[in-house]
Parts: sequence; structure tokens; C-alpha cells
Amino acid sequence: MAAAMAPTSLLVLVLLILCHGVELSAAANVTYDHRALVIDGRRRVLVSGSIHYPRSTPEMWPDLIEKSKSGGLDVIDTYVFWDIHEPVQGEVTVLLLSPNAVRFLLQLIAFPFVFRQYDFEGRKDLVRFVKAVAAGGLYVHLRIGPYVCAEWNYGGFPLWLHFIPGIEFRTDNEPYKKEMQRFTTKIVDMMKYEKLYASQGGPIILSQIENEYGNIDDAYGKAAKTYIDWAASMATSLNTGVPWVMCQQADAPDPIIDTCNGFYCDQYTPNSIHLLDVDDDDDVRHACRFLGFGDSVPYRPAEDLAFAVARFYQRGGTLQNYYMYHGGTNFGRTSGGPFITTSYDYDAPIDEYGLVRQPKWGHLRDLHIAIKLCEEAMVATDPESIDLGPNLIGDVYRAESGKCAAFLANIDNKTNATVIFNGKTYFLPAWSVSILPDCEHVVFNTAQINSQTTLPEMKYVNSDDQSSELAWKYVKEPVGISKSSAFVKAEILEQINTTADASDYLCLDITGNEPFLSDGSECTLHVESLGHVLHSFVNGQPTGSAIGSGGDSKVSLNLTITLVKGINKIDLLSVTVGLQNYGAFYEKQGAGIISPVLLIGKTASANLSLSEWTYQIGLQGEDSGLYDSGDSSVWHSQADLPKYVPLVWYTTEFEAPAGNDPVAIDFTGMGKGTAWVNGESIGRYWPSYLAPESGCEPCDYRGNYDAKKCRKNCGQPSQTLYHVPRSFIRPGQNKLVLFEEMGGDPTIISFTTRQIARLCGHVSENHPPPVRAWNSRNKSPVLHLECPRPDQVISSVPFASFGTPYGTCGSYSHGGCSSSRALAIVKQACVGATSCDVEVSIDLFGDPCAHVGKSLAVEVACS
Ligand SMILES: *[C@@H]1O[C@H](CO)[C@@H](O)[C@H](O)[C@H]1NC(C)=O
Ligand SMILES: *[C@@H]1O[C@H](CO)[C@@H](O)[C@H](O)[C@H]1NC(C)=O
Ligand SMILES: *[C@@H]1O[C@H](CO)[C@@H](O)[C@H](O)[C@H]1NC(C)=O
Ligand SMILES: *[C@@H]1O[C@H](CO)[C@@H](O)[C@H](O)[C@H]1NC(C)=O
Ligand SMILES: *[C@@H]1O[C@H](CO)[C@@H](O)[C@H](O)[C@H]1NC(C)=O
Ligand SMILES: *[C@@H]1O[C@H](CO)[C@@H](O)[C@H](O)[C@H]1NC(C)=O
Repeated sequence: MAAAMAPTSLLVLVLLILCHGVELSAAANVTYDHRALVIDGRRRVLVSGSIHYPRSTPEMWPDLIEKSKSGGLDVIDTYVFWDIHEPVQGEVTVLLLSPNAVRFLLQLIAFPFVFRQYDFEGRKDLVRFVKAVAAGGLYVHLRIGPYVCAEWNYGGFPLWLHFIPGIEFRTDNEPYKKEMQRFTTKIVDMMKYEKLYASQGGPIILSQIENEYGNIDDAYGKAAKTYIDWAASMATSLNTGVPWVMCQQADAPDPIIDTCNGFYCDQYTPNSIHLLDVDDDDDVRHACRFLGFGDSVPYRPAEDLAFAVARFYQRGGTLQNYYMYHGGTNFGRTSGGPFITTSYDYDAPIDEYGLVRQPKWGHLRDLHIAIKLCEEAMVATDPESIDLGPNLIGDVYRAESGKCAAFLANIDNKTNATVIFNGKTYFLPAWSVSILPDCEHVVFNTAQINSQTTLPEMKYVNSDDQSSELAWKYVKEPVGISKSSAFVKAEILEQINTTADASDYLCLDITGNEPFLSDGSECTLHVESLGHVLHSFVNGQPTGSAIGSGGDSKVSLNLTITLVKGINKIDLLSVTVGLQNYGAFYEKQGAGIISPVLLIGKTASANLSLSEWTYQIGLQGEDSGLYDSGDSSVWHSQADLPKYVPLVWYTTEFEAPAGNDPVAIDFTGMGKGTAWVNGESIGRYWPSYLAPESGCEPCDYRGNYDAKKCRKNCGQPSQTLYHVPRSFIRPGQNKLVLFEEMGGDPTIISFTTRQIARLCGHVSENHPPPVRAWNSRNKSPVLHLECPRPDQVISSVPFASFGTPYGTCGSYSHGGCSSSRALAIVKQACVGATSCDVEVSIDLFGDPCAHVGKSLAVEVACS
């Protein structure tokens, strides 16, 4: 992207250098006052975006950070994910000593005897990530939590925390507080050791303790307040030299900064003493929304996102964060739940694959430049509101130095307006904010997009390109009990307590004499479960499955089954799909089959709840490492490949798709399961789960965004494409392994690469001139097109129209009015170039229809 962005990125860079002026190696004093964060004595207007290090790969980080910087961010925000860093609980390793000696020693120096295994390798390398952000010239907001929510498995807590006697999460509970303090201290000490706090010359300017507790603290009664006060003083006592924030915590005690968390934060009143406006977006935030299996895909229009952000800065905000700026991928079993998809794309400005999403990324970059042009006035004073009419609000920052910046908003969700400000007339489209960095000229309006649109395409790797058709091998996972570690219990056990989340799978088997033959062999098997998915087998044959539904994803299954005379075998495979990550007492929610399990015959019924059940945690194939190197001799050859049957492991070898474009596997044809490439889990797949048919009404960006608005892919699978980072793939042969739980045909699976070959722009005469050319006082708007890669050029112009063109990128049409010169002019300016600028004015195109509002729409191809 870098080189191709010549005109744009140069200007952004200049701006950022001006704004930053911060040498990351020099210690910075970070404080705050009622207006803003104060870095080295200067109040700052900052833009932040979330990128979670384990949701991409270290190889992707520098590029993501570069694209964040050129998109106008100052700060990268990340949570810290406790569960991946401390997957097993520390153990006291002095067992050889006598109990008295242990007690004595523990009293003196308890810590050295607790052997802790931390993991900061690869995608978990937090220090490397923070250093990469610093190297990219950006600051870091480190949100330690350690509760993070984040649609992450169990909210980021390691599962073993649940087994500490007497523990209760996120309240005034000693065992919990002890662990929270220990992990928080561990992370702070690591950062200090590496000199990563701004106070030490590093990039970290802010840190967060707890997360969104204010949403649920009522449920914890009085203990909530003592817990929050304790968390605040615990964090403060760690002496990081930079401020701490709490997200969504109106009663955050001094000196902790409270931050707002919402789709819009213009109504936000910061905590009493310190009026720093931080908009710290979280799970439903200034980006969009996460995706669940079985859901249609949400998106948030760039116009509305820009509106929400501009409104926040208009009302006095000085630091806001996009949750997410790059969402990424929930690799392995890290997605929360239940039912959070593997893709965590989030409709963010940088897509899951690391490509900029246009026009969103570009429109927000233009917004960030416009806001930075106002910084001097904004940090000097509080805004002064002026009433410009119904639903029309101006805010003016007028500094004593004479600097003046204004934001003019039309918050009506239907009606365009014209306002008079400082004696001049301004057009304000409905639901938009105009930014005037000199209180006179509009450089940006949130509803008027000058940025180009890109149409990413998945290019399927033709099977001709593969040296041959993929050859698949398989191993059947036995139905029922197959592991020697299986155990018997005469009760129904809660699943999370039983598996400790070591696997998604818990198998329950009951084998016994049929009780009903006298009244016919048909009966109903009734099973209920706290979730999330249940498969049943009778005498080895699949008899039915159920998927959890409702808020708590409960499962209820009534199956008509046929028993045989004599011994029958019933196997229930209960499956979790990401553990709950949100809500008061979420750790008590539980999962899996609950009592009673009933067999209901025509005249009698049997209650199996207290019968002897054999339990097996996990799959045989998981134990034998089929997903990785494993024993290759166990795989059966293609000849009799089973298709559309449950519980099958499949493997194949594939060649790396040519080039450097991001790679995805299209799992269309498969049911549900997990996939590994060269032993790395690329996550759970579930293309057979379709979103509801309804709910995808046309999207109008005007009016309050909510999670029901603006959705796509109704009636389609929630996710068919699964990202395989390039760093998981080797030159030559690569190994793909799947565990298919419900049944599918792996021969339908295909490999794709993500490419951008088509670009569009659609700019009206009444749009502001390009914000990046503010100083040149260029009066006309400009349509700027730029190929995504520096080695590409614009090769053709399938469409260009100046007049009244309509439609969307990829399907523009000429309107009633169109200049006959448009196509030739655009071709002349663009073909053969990596990027081009075309002025949108009648000076260039002539006037095909006087007194009619005109625009220029162009589609080009890059190759
Ligand atoms: C940091 O800034 C605060 C507030 O401006 C000031 O009181 C303090 O002395 C400064 N500390 C250092 C080490 O410069
Ligand atoms: C409002 O302004 C937009 C341009 O920003 C225009 O497309 C739309 O037609 C206008 N609506 C009305 C009702 O005039
Ligand atoms: C199964 O049967 C039970 C008891 O008759 C009933 O309460 C439950 O709603 C049924 N579940 C389904 C999914 O039909
Ligand atoms: C797990 O077991 C403990 C101890 O037996 C019990 O208190 C708790 O309720 C169980 N957890 C769930 C989620 O059922
Ligand atoms: C089945 O047995 C369990 C355990 O004894 C009991 O709690 C439950 O009420 C019984 N259910 C029915 C429908 O008999
Ligand atoms: C538009 O504004 C009206 C009046 O404030 C309100 O009743 C309506 O719900 C809003 N519509 C949307 C989509 O926000």
C-alpha cells in the first residue's frame, strides 16, 4: 500500500509527524486534565484503534500497524488475553518437603515455590507486538483487564480459575483478587522490564483495569463498589507512570479515568473530577458488530461511523477508540460464545485479511486529518454550543490565540438542511457533521464520501492449477467411548466442570437392556442441555442433532428411536462452541447435558439420570494428534472416502496458492468442525449453519445504528471463508486436516486468494475539496483512485460518467444527464498510472445540464 499511496500518505505522514513530535525513546510524562491526555506538557487530540495481537500473526503486525498509521491513528489499543498466556495453573512444587516445612517456607517466601508456566510465543508475543507498534510510530493503550470480554473464550480468563476453591469472579472475593492482582502485576512488570511505558521512553500511554463492569455491577450488590475501589488502588499502586482507565465505570475512583462505551458517545458525561472524554468503544462500538454462527452479517455504514466519531470530538472528546480497527480471526478455540464465529472481521477499516476496507478506511482517514487540523483550537478550550435550528447544532472551539475550529451537525435523520454560521451559508445533509478547521471552510462532511470504494474478490484456485485434484484420506472417529481414560458416574455431570474446556467434546454413553420391548420398540429419547450442540447415536447410528437457541443457547431434543431386543447403546455427544464471555456470574452458566434424560415409551418411561453413564472427554483423534504430525499410517486412502457421515477426520495435501495475496479456504460442502493447516488450528468451521431469511432490509445510514440494522447474507451461511495466514503455509506441500462432526463432502472444499481488482469512486460537485490538500485551498472536489498494490496500474476504465450517474460500485449506470467527454478524460488521466486524481467540476467536463446537481462516477480495473 505504502508506495502507491504517494500523495495521500505523504500528507498524512507530515501531519502525524507534526502532531506526534514524540520521540518514543525519550521518557514522556503522561498525565491528564479536564480536557485531554497531556503528553509532555501538551494536551493532545488522539485517535485510537483496537488490534488484538493473537487475532493475527506477528508476520501481519507491521503491515497492520503501517495501515493504521496511514489511516490516521495515533494509538493502537489491545486487550491482554490471560488464558493464552497462562493456560495451566501454577503448581506448588515443594511436595517432597514435609507439610510443616512447606507451611513454614510458604509463609516466608511463598512465591518462588510456585512454578508458573507463562506462554508468550508466536501470536502470544505481547512484548513483540507492543514493540512493533512503537516501531511503527504509534502509542499503545494496554487494556490488561484481566477480564476482557472481547467475544473471547470465557472472557479471557483461564478456565482453571474456576476451580480455585471459594472463588467468585469479578467481585470482592479474596481468591479472585489474589489471582487478578498477580496476573496484572506480571504484565505490568514485563512491560516495565522492557521499558515499554511512556514514562520509561516506551509507547504505552494508557492502561486499563477491569472492563465494562458498570454494565453488570448491580448484580454484585455492595461488593461491586469495594471491588472496583480495590481494583483502582491495586492498579495505581503498580506505578506505571501512565494513567489508568476503566471502561464504562461511572463511579471509577480518582485517579482512574472513566470511558464511554457505545455506538454513540456524544451524550457522554465523564466522571466527576476529571473531564477527559475518552470514547473507548467496546463490543458494540464504533466499528460494527461481531458475528455469530447462524447470524446474518452486520455492517456499519462509513457515513454513520464517521458521524458518531465526529459528534464525539464535536462535544469535547479528545480520544476515541475504534473497536475494532482490525478485527482479525479467532484461531483455535479462542472464540467466545456461545457461537461466536471464527471470523472476527468486525466490518473494521482493515478487513480480516489485512486489506484496507474502502470506502470506510479512507473516509475515516479523511475525518482524522480534518480533526487533527482542529487540534490546536480543540485543546485550548471547551467547545461552545450554538443553536442553529431544530436538530441543528454547532460547536465552536475558539482559542485565545485566535485559532478557531467549528463542527456543524445536522442530527435529523431525514431532513437535509441549510444553516447560516458566521454570516455564511452551509449545506448540511441529514445525519451529518461538517468540520471547519478555520471556522469558515468545510474540509469534511461525514455524509459526503470522497474516498474510493474497493470490491475485494475471492479468486478461486482452479483445480487445474493444483498439480492434481486434491487426494483426501480419512480416519473415522469411533462413535461412543474409545479412550482408556473414560470413567463411569451414576449422574449427569456439568460439562465445563468435567472437561475443564480441554476439548469441545464430551461423550456420554449408556449401555443396557432395553426396557420397552413389551410395548413396542419405538420410544422417545428426551435430552436437554445447557448447550451448545448435541448429537445422538443409538447402537452406533446417528439419530439426530440439536443446536442451542435462545439467549442461553439451551438445547432440547425429543427423538423417536428404535431399540432392539437385548442390549442397546445410546451415545450422546455434547459439544461446546466457545464459552460464555459476558454477563454477571457468567462463569456459573455451565454447559452440556442436564438431568433428566428420559426414555418415554407408550406405557412406561425410564429416567436415566441416575443410571451409570460412561464419560469420555475429547476425541480419540485429538489424543492421537491426528491434526498434527500424528501417525500417518492410520489414514485410509481415498478409494472409499466417506461423505456426509458424522465423526470423520479428513486430510489432504495442498500446494501454497501462488503469489502473496491472503489465502482463505472455502468450506462450502462441509457441516461443522475444526480445521488445521500444518498443525495450526485455523478455527471452528460451520458453513452449514444458515442465517435467518429475514432481517436484511435496505440500509439507510441515517438514524441511530443498532445491531439489527444494516445486515447482509440473510439466508446464507454465516461464514464459508476461513483465513489461513500466509505464515501458516510453507512452499511446496501443506497439510490440511479437518475433523467433521456432522457430515460433509471435503472434495467440494476450495482454496481462494483475496484480491482487489476493481475500484470505484463517486464524488459530487458539492462535496468538500480533498482534506489532504487543505493548504492548497483547492476549491473543487477531487475523485482520487489508487490501486491497492504499488506494482499494479489502472488498466481499463469500464465506466465513467459525469452528470447524474446512479447505482453502486460494480453496477453504475448513466443518468439522464451525462457529459460525452467523461470517459475519454478519465482514461487519459488514469490508464497506465498507479493512482490518479480527477477534478469534479464543469471546468473539466463541461456542463451537460445546467442547474442540476452533478457528480462523477468511475469504475476502473487494476492489474
Ligand atoms: C509530569 O507532569 C505533571 C503535571 O504536569 C507534573 O506535576 C509532574 O511534575 C511531571 N513529572 C515529571 C517527572 O516531569
Ligand atoms: C439530501 O442530500 C443528499 C446529498 O447529500 C441528496 O442525495 C438527497 O437527495 C437530499 N435529500 C433530499 C430530500 O433533498
Ligand atoms: C420435548 O418434550 C418435552 C416434554 O414433553 C417438552 O417439554 C419439550 O418442549 C419438547 N422439546 C421439543 C424440542 O420438542
Ligand atoms: C461445578 O462444580 C462446582 C463444585 O461442585 C459447583 O459448585 C458448580 O456449580 C459447578 N459449575 C457449574 C457451571 O455447574
Ligand atoms: C429423573 O431423576 C432425577 C434424579 O433423581 C430427578 O431429579 C428428576 O426429577 C427425575 N425426572 C423425572 C421426570 O422423573
Ligand atoms: C428518526 O428521528 C425520529 C424523531 O426523532 C425518531 O422518532 C425515529 O425513531 C428516528 N429514526 C431512526 C431510524 O433513527
